[in-house]
Amino acid sequence: MALATLVTEPWADFGLVDSGHGRKLERYGPWRFIRPEPQAMWVPAAPDWHADGEFIGGSDAEGGGRWTLSPKIPGAWPLARGPVKFWASNTPFRHLAFFPDMAPQWDWIADRVAPGDEVLNLFGYTGVASLVMAAKGARVTHVDASKKAIGAATENQKLSGLGAAPIRWLVDDALKFVEREVRRGRRYAGIILDPPKYGRGPKGEVWELDEKLAALMAACAALLDDRSKFLVLTAYAVRMSAIAIANLTEEVTRPLGGSVEAGEMTIREEARGLLLPTAIFARWSR
Ligand SMILES: C[S@@+](CC[C@H](N)C(=O)[O-])C[C@H]1O[C@@H](n2cnc3c(N)ncnc32)[C@H](O)[C@@H]1O
Repeated sequence: MALATLVTEPWADFGLVDSGHGRKLERYGPWRFIRPEPQAMWVPAAPDWHADGEFIGGSDAEGGGRWTLSPKIPGAWPLARGPVKFWASNTPFRHLAFFPDMAPQWDWIADRVAPGDEVLNLFGYTGVASLVMAAKGARVTHVDASKKAIGAATENQKLSGLGAAPIRWLVDDALKFVEREVRRGRRYAGIILDPPKYGRGPKGEVWELDEKLAALMAACAALLDDRSKFLVLTAYAVRMSAIAIANLTEEVTRPLGGSVEAGEMTIREEARGLLLPTAIFARWSR
């Protein structure tokens, strides 16, 4: 297993401008926002930040809190990265309706997907990764428990001009769906999954990463065969090491050959170039 640090470099529509004193300043298209960032323990590069809005955290680290926004900020505004376009908005969950730290994963997947490949995106949320694969000509199955997230993903599909692309948008429980696909004998060229620590399927199915990740990864590996190319697991806000999820990924992919790489995902701060860690990943490829 190889260890690596993935870095989201700034691009036209996104950048981590500065960070420190438990907060971060980011730009999303024309707007700048401040959000809590407990890992930014250092001193910010600039003493004063000018922003169009700020998320003031609640007492609960996982939820609570609210945005204070300039009245100029629209309900949603379009952003782009490469061929994919998506709507940004100030969600009650403190993020902006997509996860910029996934950019190095999008690029890695785009390098591996070929036209006609059947690929699966689990816990796919607003669908940026699905659209990255669709833009490469893949046939995408996108699964998320939230009807609202799927609705937003289809809006992103239209915005990207990929309305005719073969994407199945499924409101389903990720584990139940994958187990059904195993029983049907289905195979995928690549799978990506970004499970939350805790979640619920559309019928109230409880998802707990600590309890169910091993079963889900084993089931995902059963959907791969000797023609498959990749399996990407990312995890955030968990007390888990990249090495632990790499061990699991190596275990389930052993019969397939190939190799596993794992490590931290980070975003480069524009002010000084320092890396802000956001998540961990393990990915198999061949
Ligand atoms: C933070 S998002 C993943 C982010 C996404 N991969 C991206 O890069 O935009 C986690 C998603 O998991 C979904 N989810 C939670 N529990 C689920 C379950 N049991 N089955 C399927 N999706 C679930 C949520 O609706 C949410 O959209």
